[in-house]
Amino acid sequence: MKLIILLELTIILHVFASIVVYSSEARRLQACKPSGQIQAKGPQPGLCSQVNTTDCCVPGRFYPLYKCSPPVSKTTAAVLTLNSFEKGGDGSSPSECDGKYHSDDTPVVALSTGWYSGGGRCHHNISISGNGGRRVNVLVVDECESTMGCDEEHHHQPPCSNNIVVASKAVWKALGVPLNEWGTLDITWSDA
Ligand SMILES: *[C@@H]1O[C@H](CO)[C@@H](O)[C@H](O)[C@H]1NC(C)=O
Ligand SMILES: *[C@@H]1O[C@H](CO)[C@@H](O)[C@H](O)[C@H]1NC(C)=O
Repeated sequence: MKLIILLELTIILHVFASIVVYSSEARRLQACKPSGQIQAKGPQPGLCSQVNTTDCCVPGRFYPLYKCSPPVSKTTAAVLTLNSFEKGGDGSSPSECDGKYHSDDTPVVALSTGWYSGGGRCHHNISISGNGGRRVNVLVVDECESTMGCDEEHHHQPPCSNNIVVASKAVWKALGVPLNEWGTLDITWSDA
């Protein structure tokens, strides 16, 4: 009798545990859905600066918008991209955190809106790991806007995806990425 109760209890516990695991996995996957989308207007030739990026809104195309980013952990998966933080660079506007431009020879980054966290990571370092485990500390100075884009204010560049770390040249250099491979790179990062 006791054995049967114990067995039933074990089964119930197993079922309960799988429900908990399943729902947390489902929550993780649903953690950050688009909040909407925009359609790029057009044609507006020549408006997107392509000095260092090649990413301009394609007229008629829909782009998802995100207010959130995936949860931050010790190994937050992200895509590293390259941009200039200098005056006259592709960003063309001063950094969101301090209203200033930054030399591309300093290791600075911009984070997707969710990770930028309303400026909560401004003036903090994050630790980036990539290119076979090389690690570098970089300063958060800007936001990569995930909730807007494809307009004049955003230089006709698409809204940022929700998992982007935009980095200056110095960051790519510090990670030891060969010059001909600069552009996009899978990385992980954490708060430093
Ligand atoms: C942007 O492009 C210019 C001209 O090709 C180059 O001199 C500069 O180093 C580039 N900046 C970055 C951040 O790659
Ligand atoms: C950020 O990291 C740099 C090294 O890249 C270090 O010199 C600086 O003191 C750090 N800043 C903060 C605020 O932790």
